[in-house]
Amino acid sequence: NARDALGGNSGDAWEALREEARGCTRCHLHAHATQTVFGEGPVDARMMVIGEQPGDQEDLAGHPFVGPAGQMFDRAIAAAGIDRATLYVTNAVKHFKFEPRGKRRIHAKPDAGEISACRWWYEQERLLVRPAVTLALGATAARQMLGKVVTIGRERGRAIELAEGGIGWVTIHPSFLLRMPDKARVEDEFAAFVQDLRGAAALAG
Ligand code: URA
Repeated sequence: NARDALGGNSGDAWEALREEARGCTRCHLHAHATQTVFGEGPVDARMMVIGEQPGDQEDLAGHPFVGPAGQMFDRAIAAAGIDRATLYVTNAVKHFKFEPRGKRRIHAKPDAGEISACRWWYEQERLLVRPAVTLALGATAARQMLGKVVTIGRERGRAIELAEGGIGWVTIHPSFLLRMPDKARVEDEFAAFVQDLRGAAALAG
């Protein structure tokens, strides 16, 4: 694997992996996206966070979770007492999938083929980071983590033993909070999200 290939220096191995991912053509999404948005954070992080895929702003910036969903995520982890600098943050799919609508690019959900095409990168990231806890934000992330279709309501907020090692933890995607039509419920859902984040952080120690 990537770690062994570089004599055990995970930082260098990670740089090499990110470099390689820049040229990824494992699925068709690279053709329209601006760039690969690779994971980021300390390679020795105890917690790995998985999102769905980069959004419009992430695609342009080249960094995960910097747009509106990222700001919601940042608010929630701050409320949970988690320092983002301690997290390795990545996405299940590393290119932005969208449909053009006039000048706007509208987010489109990655399908099963795109998720599995991107699995290789996710697995390489795991081999380098070896997280104690992997936190999946939303259904696409949970599907990448568990290798099967997952119902968030059923799996969220409990420790799941991962075959490849460590503990998995599932919660909502922060964009769910941004899209909620019933604004009166946002506060409660935000609090439940923060609670899930606290649970994951407690396991990571
Ligand atoms: N949503 C995600 O799932 N990931 C990002 O990086 C940005 C938005």
